[in-house]
Amino acid sequence: MAYSARVNNYWRGGKDNFASDRKAAEQALKAFPALPEAIRAGQAFRRRAARYLVSEAGIRQFLDLGTGLPTGDTIYQIAESLAPGCRAVYVDNDPMVLTHARALLGGSCAYVDADLRDVGAVLAETGRTLDLAQPVAVILSSVLHLIPDADDPYGIVGRLMNAAVPGSALVIVHPASDIRPEASAGMAASLNQLMAQKRTYRGHAGVSRFFSGLELADPGVVRVPDWRPDNEMEASAPTMAWCGVARKSAHAGQAPG
Ligand SMILES: C[S@@+](CC[C@H](N)C(=O)[O-])C[C@H]1O[C@@H](n2cnc3c(N)ncnc32)[C@H](O)[C@@H]1O
Repeated sequence: MAYSARVNNYWRGGKDNFASDRKAAEQALKAFPALPEAIRAGQAFRRRAARYLVSEAGIRQFLDLGTGLPTGDTIYQIAESLAPGCRAVYVDNDPMVLTHARALLGGSCAYVDADLRDVGAVLAETGRTLDLAQPVAVILSSVLHLIPDADDPYGIVGRLMNAAVPGSALVIVHPASDIRPEASAGMAASLNQLMAQKRTYRGHAGVSRFFSGLELADPGVVRVPDWRPDNEMEASAPTMAWCGVARKSAHAGQAPG
C-alpha cells in the first residue's frame, strides 16, 4: 500500500518513499502531468500565507496538522525566518513522519504523533508547547481530503477553532473536485486503489464550509495561485486545489462540532 506522506515526498523529489508509493505517485502524474508545477505553486502559497500570518495577523504560534515528511519550508519555518521567536506543534499519524520528526524540530517546536481526528488529545498535547490563551494559526494543508465525510471533518475543524482564541487563523489547502474535474476524477480513481487512505476531493462549496463562522481574508476561497500572488508567474501556475485563510473574530459564534 502507498501512504500519502511518502507519495507527496516522491512528487517533491524526495527519497523517503517505497516502490508502492512511487507506483501510486506515477499513476497520479499520468492523470495530472502538471502536478510538479502545482506543488511549486503550493510552496509559493505557503510563503505568502506565512507572510500574511506574521505581518498582517501578528500570529506567532502554529499548529500544523498532517505535516508530512520534512521539506524545510513549512509555514512555521517560513514564519520563523520572518519573525524569530515563533512556536509550532506538528501533528501527523504516519510512523515514517515520526522517524523523520527530528528534522522538523528546530527552535520552539514539538512533534505530536497523533490522529488529528482525536481533537481532544491533539489539543491536550498542543497545550504543552503553545499558549492556547494566545492566537494560533491552525494549518490543514492537503490533509482534509484524507478525512472522509463519515469521520466528520467539519466537526473536527469546528472543535479545533472553538478551542482557538479570537485573533487565531485557519489555513486550508484542499485538493478540488471541480477545478480540473477530469484530472481529479482520474487521480482519485487510481490513487484510491493504491493508497491506504482514500481521498475525498471537495468542491468550492465544500471547502468554503470549513470556514463557517470565521472571517475570510481577501480574496476568500480561491485556486491556490489566485491567493495574493506576488507576480504573474505565480498567478499563472497550474493547480488542482482550493485554499483559504480566515481569522476568528472577537464576536465569532461557536462553530458546529
Ligand atoms: C498529502 S500529505 C500533506 C503534507 C503537507 N501538509 C503538505 O501540505 O504538503 C498528508 C499528510 O497528512 C497525514 N495525515 C493523514 N491523515 C491524518 C490524520 N488523520 N491525522 C494526522 N495526520 C494525517 C499523512 O500522514 C501525511 O503526512
